[in-house]
Parts: sequence; structure tokens; C-alpha cells
Amino acid sequence: MITIKDKTFVPFIPADAIQERIQELAKQINQEYADKRPLIVVVLNGAFLFAADLAKQLTIACEITFIRVASYAATESSGQLKQILGLNESIEGRDLIVVEDIVDTGFTLHEVCKQLRDKQPASLTIATLLFKPTALKEPLDLHYVGFEIENRFVVGYGLDYDGLGRNTQDIFVLA
Ligand code: XMP
Ligand code: MG
Repeated sequence: MITIKDKTFVPFIPADAIQERIQELAKQINQEYADKRPLIVVVLNGAFLFAADLAKQLTIACEITFIRVASYAATESSGQLKQILGLNESIEGRDLIVVEDIVDTGFTLHEVCKQLRDKQPASLTIATLLFKPTALKEPLDLHYVGFEIENRFVVGYGLDYDGLGRNTQDIFVLA
């Protein structure tokens, strides 16, 4: 059990299960990209540990880059817009693997992928460590999913509660 600020979290996915699953995902990516040289696009901050552990298991030639997604309030009708920050290289003609920590409603990745596809990559797949299927509101094709989880708030292993809790080896769920 851990306490972050006013909230209590209990163990949910232990470190060894996370690492075991990452090995499986990496094996799949190694096979499917054996004759390619993908550009791995890591969505910061949450995906930093997942991306690091995944990358260490990749035996293919690949490049790794990092983006942030900034949300800003637009007009009342269009709600929150998302802007990609930090993508400096050309992605035209590249095989992209977008690495995310968690897909909840899917709004973030839906918008990110739309903006990336506008720049004409050769292909785009998504690798997310966690996925909450019952929370999904935007259709998303998720190619590599670590764990499907119920619609509860999780922290740890990159995921935060109010900026805290990213630095654990295990994933915890709100009690
Ligand atoms: P959407 O709804 O756009 O959300 O798919 C994706 C982003 O929302 C954050 N998120 C969480 N962060 N525990 C967290 O620490 C959670 O359970 C959780 N659910 C969603 C996260 O930043 C993700 O990138
Ligand atoms: Mg995130």
C-alpha cells in the first residue's frame, strides 16, 4: 500500500508481471519490424519507464524520439485541443511506433495519431502499456497492449497522481 497526498493506492500489477509482458511485446515488435527501421515516438511524461524497458528489449535497428502533448482550452464547442510538442524530425515515409503509458478515453492518442498521419508516415502503430476498454470513446487501433484494465485510476511505473508516484517499479490502483 502507498499513500500519495490524500489518496491510498494498493498493489495492482507487480514489477515482474510488467517486465514479463514487456518482453512479450518486444518479441512481437522485433518480429514484425525485423526488416524495417522504425521511429519510436514516446509520449512523455507517463511512458518514460515503459519506453525505456521496451527499448532495452528491442534487437531491431530503431530510432527513438520523444514528444509531449499539450492540452489547451479552445472555444467552448470544440473543447480541449491537443498540440504535439518536440517532434523535430521529419516523419514522412517513416514507420512509426507511438509508445504511450495508458489509453483511457482515447482522445489524446486519437488526436496525436491524426496529426502524425497528416505528415505522411509510411505506417503508424500504437504500443500502450495499459488500456481501459470500457472508458474508450474514440475508435483507436491499438496494436500492442500490455494490459487491459478496468476503469480505475492507476499510478506508478511512470503514471502519476498530481505529479507524484511515477518512480515505482509496480503499478498501484486507487483503493
Ligand atoms: P485519454 O483519455 O486521452 O487519456 O486516453 C490518456 C491520458 O490520461 C491520463 N490518464 C491516467 N493517468 N492514471 C494516470 O496516472 C490513470 O488511471 C489514467 N487514466 C488516464 C494519462 O496521462 C494518459 O496519457
Ligand atoms: Mg500519458
